Amino acid sequence: MSSSSLELIPFVDLSWQHRPLKADILAMVKAVMEKGDCVLGQKVTEFETAFAAACQTDYGVGVGCGTDAIALGLRACGITAGDEVILPANTFIATLIGIVRTGATPILVDCDPQTALIDLDAAERAITPRTKAIVPVHLYGQMVSPTALIALAKRHHLIIFEDAAQAHLAQREGYRAGSIGMAAGFSFYPSKNLGGLGDGGMLVTPQEAVAQTVRSLRNYGATRKYFHTDPGGVNSRLDTIQAGVLQLKLPHMEAWNQARNQLAQYYDAAIAPLAQKGIVPMTNVSGTGHVYHLYVIKVTADCPIDRNLLQTALNAQAIQTGIHYPIPCHLQPAFSSLGHQPGNFPYSEALSQEILSLPMYPGLTLEQVDRVVAAIHFALTSPV
Ligand SMILES: Cc1ncc(COP(=O)(O)O)c(C=O)c1O
Repeated sequence: MSSSSLELIPFVDLSWQHRPLKADILAMVKAVMEKGDCVLGQKVTEFETAFAAACQTDYGVGVGCGTDAIALGLRACGITAGDEVILPANTFIATLIGIVRTGATPILVDCDPQTALIDLDAAERAITPRTKAIVPVHLYGQMVSPTALIALAKRHHLIIFEDAAQAHLAQREGYRAGSIGMAAGFSFYPSKNLGGLGDGGMLVTPQEAVAQTVRSLRNYGATRKYFHTDPGGVNSRLDTIQAGVLQLKLPHMEAWNQARNQLAQYYDAAIAPLAQKGIVPMTNVSGTGHVYHLYVIKVTADCPIDRNLLQTALNAQAIQTGIHYPIPCHLQPAFSSLGHQPGNFPYSEALSQEILSLPMYPGLTLEQVDRVVAAIHFALTSPV
């Protein structure tokens, strides 16, 4: 069938979650307009408290985006020029940008090819006397092992700063994303598991002093009105209206994450027979604690067609997909000054060529998943 006669299966569709909330969202916007507390209003404080509690930590500080949560949060944790900070090579570039903005030296390490999460053995080998922190990224909605991270950090006196931008309310080994270390950064970019109607982010922490510092940094480095104590201050505040939207969505998060996890289980079972044709889903090592921000498969060398061809074939069947991410951080032109070469992080590089993210969002139907898997099957059995 030609793609024009097929109904599109979008990569992400937010209409299903927005439709039942529309009236409440519009009423909230009206109330904010009438109250006039557009910046750092009541909804921001309420949502900060609620979100920190949902993450099983103590303080939340709403900022303009997830990148700022990382940059300002690390600064508040004391990270500065001369420090080394470890992070995975296969993450969204914002993790690296956030670290670089503190003036610290980013130290990239490779990942586990089965989960795509940071390889903690590689991280341990990269530690030097200057290493101050590790930034694990809970990629695709799955947490890096909290117990292993905590043990590593204890052995080497490192700060853990979680990049939890893709892992709202994820769990592993009894821990919630955002509750493991000194602080964590979240993004509320619209397509995230918890997303606003625009940019937004939050720093969460169990430490009052870290929260206080980020509160100041997000507001021009002021500790009180027109009194500025930190030259690293910026204007990066979570909008009151965005906080209001996020507050309305937060009570649905458990159900929405559960729906994602169930869709992933359905995908896994449907895709399992394709293993003999070289299609392998990323490994879930955290069961129902994996919140599947993304559902990612690997198109391995055993597959009759490569990843790009499969993506084109799915597109021809009106199925949108994504690649997260096509170029690992160490090969991005912006960071050539770090001096890395192709071959430095072989697993991250191999993944960047093999991974394909399939449609995944609460509201995706099992029939749509069946159609995605059937289209993969068709592409493999009748390669163009
Ligand atoms: C892993 C990761 N870190 C950081 C960010 C940055 O968040 P934001 O886009 O809100 O700045 C994102 C999302 O874009 C992300 O996926």
